[in-house]
Amino acid sequence: MSTQILDPISATKNRKKVTTLDFLRMKQRRQPISMLTAYDYPTALAMDQAGIDSILVGDSLGMVVLGYPDTLSVTMDDMLHHCKAVARGAHASLLIGDMPFMSYQVSPQEAVRNAGRFLQEAGMDAVKLEGGRDRQDAIRLIVSAGIPVMGHIGLTPQSVHQLGGYRLQGRNSAEARRLLDDARILQDAGCFSLVLESVPSQLATLISQELEIPSIGIGAGPGCDGQVLVTHDLLGLFERFTPRFVKQYANLSQEMTLAFNQYSQDVREHRFPANEQTTYMADEEWQSFLNSIKRYQPVAIVNN
Ligand code: KIV
Repeated sequence: MSTQILDPISATKNRKKVTTLDFLRMKQRRQPISMLTAYDYPTALAMDQAGIDSILVGDSLGMVVLGYPDTLSVTMDDMLHHCKAVARGAHASLLIGDMPFMSYQVSPQEAVRNAGRFLQEAGMDAVKLEGGRDRQDAIRLIVSAGIPVMGHIGLTPQSVHQLGGYRLQGRNSAEARRLLDDARILQDAGCFSLVLESVPSQLATLISQELEIPSIGIGAGPGCDGQVLVTHDLLGLFERFTPRFVKQYANLSQEMTLAFNQYSQDVREHRFPANEQTTYMADEEWQSFLNSIKRYQPVAIVNN
């Protein structure tokens, strides 16, 4: 088996910026769109270099990075802070900022003002917001301001209390019909794409086929035009629970615990820092320093 060695730096240099228009073209060419969440500079850099089409600074931030029980406590300030870090790391991927709870529900005017901050202050290319028909006025106004909007229907975590938990949506005919109508309404309102979360596979496929804009699925099966995962689930960095639809590609939580444990033992047993991690002053400078403070006995230095 041959292993392909990726040169990440040249891979990024050759990458062109992904735009919302590219999303549309990819759907037309039946080319699947890859999207992942990121919340910080090094992760965004790695994703950009790995060729991920789009990075979502999701409000899942609240759960997987900030340790809240759900996404409801995440604020505009939290989101803008993390979006700025991601924008410093990623240059080619399409960057999407997730609008937090209560930043777009009060009025379309407040929604457009908050959406604008993601582009003007935080370097995002687009915003995402949750909800169906009830959000169409806000979406229209944001889009009319020149800001691309990604919709999000199915399981919408900001409505977890209304939905009665993190449950599959669109399980019966009436619910499925409502989701299909919502998808069409969001497309008509001007969304360039939409997330379908926790929806039965047949329904997600049908909605994707009905729409001209690309659907990005999470827990919605292989029939969507693209896929997104919460990166901490994919990397095994969030242990509170792992949804059934997640494919875990690494167990970084275990790796981190191992590394921290080894470091702690090295410190306790004087193995860290060793000589290669230590810098010394030149002998004559050291002597001159000792003379200057009138110390005639050189201090013993322990070399590992
Ligand atoms: O906040 C988030 O990470 C999301 C994805 C799950 C789509 O909305």
